[in-house]
Amino acid sequence: MKVRKAVITAAGWGIRFLPITKSQRKEMLPLVDKPLIQYSVEEAVACGVELVIIVTAQGKGAIEDHFDRSFELEHFLERKGENKLAEEIRRLSNMVDICYVHPKERLGLGHAVLAAKRVVGEEPFVLLLPDDLFEGQEAVLRQMLEIYQRYQGNIIAVKRVSKEEINRYGIIEPRKVAEHVYQVINLVEKPQPEQAPSDLAIMGRYVLMPEIFEALESTLPGKNQEIQLTDALAQVLQKQAIYAYEFEGERYDAGTPLGWLEATIVLALGHPDIGPKLREYLGGLLQRITYPEEALPLGVISREGRKWLK
Ligand code: G1P
Repeated sequence: MKVRKAVITAAGWGIRFLPITKSQRKEMLPLVDKPLIQYSVEEAVACGVELVIIVTAQGKGAIEDHFDRSFELEHFLERKGENKLAEEIRRLSNMVDICYVHPKERLGLGHAVLAAKRVVGEEPFVLLLPDDLFEGQEAVLRQMLEIYQRYQGNIIAVKRVSKEEINRYGIIEPRKVAEHVYQVINLVEKPQPEQAPSDLAIMGRYVLMPEIFEALESTLPGKNQEIQLTDALAQVLQKQAIYAYEFEGERYDAGTPLGWLEATIVLALGHPDIGPKLREYLGGLLQRITYPEEALPLGVISREGRKWLK
């Protein structure tokens, strides 16, 4: 069955980005020249999705405005002769049908996914966590959809992580079935490394069967008192198979300041207009600057003793 719908969760508080996320939505933070959430929407569209369901929370109007039509702006740009830009702005609102669901409370990822139940209905769907970005953009999800067609089960993306990182992710117990593909025997949300069944961590892309909703409805709060998607998937295992795809290449966690910076630099370096100049600038910068022994919170010191503030 073709996967036609994508759920994108954008309902968190953005705790790791406070204070910027006190009034600014994390999903609207810029990554080079687009907000973070636009990458997930474009990825879903590139994989053939026809309807995107964004799960938002209070104060997420900026996301809706971003994907909405702005005749006034298009008209203004056209009058100024900025036709290419006007076309780009129009494309943004024509890309795909988007609908929004607003859960009344924020009780965790599982709870946010459950909010999309009525709109998804009885069909498989993809779930994208917009913090997670992948080298090669839609390649990982595209591959997962192919694996879904072959195995007809739930598919999750996984990557090996270091021991120190294990307690930040859902971790699977794997049984290898093919090159890069595992059958999932069990999964645990954010275990301590000693209790983890492996070092294969779930990264934010899933192809899910509609049975996940029934499991979510009976999932009690788990790790961090949140309703965890991983716990619902563990329930699903009793009735349905889950497979994991170990993708190759980098993944960036743009939900943390460091991961966001890394993703920004990588994307900017690959950007046709910005990339070449940035490469030159960074090359020069790395030769020029030294880092003080005691890191200064506000900047770095150049060899000439100048100080750059943030
Ligand atoms: C969520 C999931 C976790 C997964 C992670 C991937 O955690 O609960 O299983 O490994 O996304 O980014 P969160 O990052 O929302 O705490």
